[in-house]
Amino acid sequence: MDDTKFRELTPSPDCLIESLRDIGYTIETAVADIVDNSIAAEAYTIDIRFAWNEGCPWLAIIDNGWGMSEDELIESMRFGSKSPLATRSKSDLGRFGLGMKTASLSQCRHMVVISRKDGQTTGCSWDLDRIQNQQDKSWRVELLSPEDIQDQETLKSIFEEYLKDRDSGSIVVWLNMDRFSGSEPFQENVFNTALIDVRHHLEEIYHRFLASPVPRRNVRIAMNGDELTAFDPFNTKNLATIELQKQRFSIEGSRVVVQPYVLPHHTKVSKEEYVRYAGTGGYLHNQGFYIYRNSRLIIKGTWFRIIKKEELNKLIRVKVDIPNTLDHLWKIDVKKSGAYPPESVRKELKQVIDKIEISGRRVYSQRGIKLRSETRMPIWNRKASHGEITYEINRDHTFLVNLKKTLSAENIELLDNLLATIEGGFPVESFFSDVAGRSEQVKKPQIPREKLAMLLGEFISIWQSKDNDSLELEEMILQSEPFASHRELTEQLLKEKPIS
Ligand SMILES: Nc1ncnc2c1ncn2[C@@H]1O[C@H](COP(=O)(O)OP(=O)(O)OP(=O)(O)O)[C@@H](O)[C@H]1O
Ligand SMILES: [Mg+2]
Repeated sequence: MDDTKFRELTPSPDCLIESLRDIGYTIETAVADIVDNSIAAEAYTIDIRFAWNEGCPWLAIIDNGWGMSEDELIESMRFGSKSPLATRSKSDLGRFGLGMKTASLSQCRHMVVISRKDGQTTGCSWDLDRIQNQQDKSWRVELLSPEDIQDQETLKSIFEEYLKDRDSGSIVVWLNMDRFSGSEPFQENVFNTALIDVRHHLEEIYHRFLASPVPRRNVRIAMNGDELTAFDPFNTKNLATIELQKQRFSIEGSRVVVQPYVLPHHTKVSKEEYVRYAGTGGYLHNQGFYIYRNSRLIIKGTWFRIIKKEELNKLIRVKVDIPNTLDHLWKIDVKKSGAYPPESVRKELKQVIDKIEISGRRVYSQRGIKLRSETRMPIWNRKASHGEITYEINRDHTFLVNLKKTLSAENIELLDNLLATIEGGFPVESFFSDVAGRSEQVKKPQIPREKLAMLLGEFISIWQSKDNDSLELEEMILQSEPFASHRELTEQLLKEKPIS
């Protein structure tokens, strides 16, 4: 090879790291990338500690995983420590050989990793301010001696509390968290609120580890001593959650398992529970696929543009389990917060959706059927044919029949035109979206007492002239509109003025 044709171009560490800081991590996704490493190292206890520290906040993630030797730790500090093309163990949550560094430095300017393996402790750090001040553009990582750890108050106290007496484990510490630091009082609130978001995020993305009945898989995570509780986005513990048929398909020899759920309708659970499972952004926003890579939720609430998010499907959430062997197809991003399925998978998922939508609809239509059967003389007739549902004004309603008797043929035609106009103008879209969105708030206008009394009088006089038994008539009144919808008031009126 002709060496003169090539020039060595080592990236400038200060420029490159500064740019990598902004690839889009949030504090939630950054903490999760570190926790991924702990779980991959078979840790079953993970402690997250943090402190505002008078405007210079820090955060540490401590695990009891298998830890790293000195050589392993140094290698792990390398940007690009493993190739995305390398084959990973089945339970490895990593892919790029970047997460620990990029996630940490997205939130702080000084990261320290201390690890113990076979009773030996080693420490390493990347400090952006040191890198910026060094004259040469080398990628030299700093090795920490036991004294260095003792000299730094935060490192010393965490090390002594958690790692000193363990055979193995690791600590990742974020010092100088410049995204949050500051002397204004509100900044402390911003920091604490962000950590509440972190908590909720971890409770959801690791819910299958937090609640795993298999002791080997079960992971305990605590934040400043407070244990996290699993948040299962499918609310599977509630019997009202409908578990639809599981489906499986194979892609390049790897199995993908799909489990659709329909979450409980608001009438089936308490208001608190309904709101809790709505999640940030609500049911409409959170419908869709929930993709789990090695049991860890990586992306949620999207139909991957296969269908649109609709009110009708807002209770449908579909669990999709993918193995890490399909990473190259799914376009998993460095932050593990994005993935997009290849065309072959989209095709399979489309078929899954086609089957579920029908079941999701049934949740609503069942309620419709029930309402209909309670009224003998409705105002609106529900008509279902060829998969289409329409509502028509009941031409046989007593009031209409009676009115028509008093009208000339010409006026009857005018009335029919008016009825057809009202039916044609029924606001289907807005009504549907209101009912599906906040059905508890959709109300029929109430007829005032005097008006109802008048209508009742008219109804009785029409039917009495037909020689009806008064008990039978009362029963019929209560099953006819508008009296059925104003039952209490109608009963009161009938008591005050019984049918003679
Ligand atoms: N808590 C830990 N315990 C043991 N080993 C760890 C721990 N954290 C990191 N490592 C080691 O350091 C390596 C680098 O971690 P890093 O997160 O940077 O990349 P990755 O996990 O391989 O891939 P990704 O960029 O997708 O996260 C890991 O592959 C692992 O070998
Ligand atoms: Mg990682």
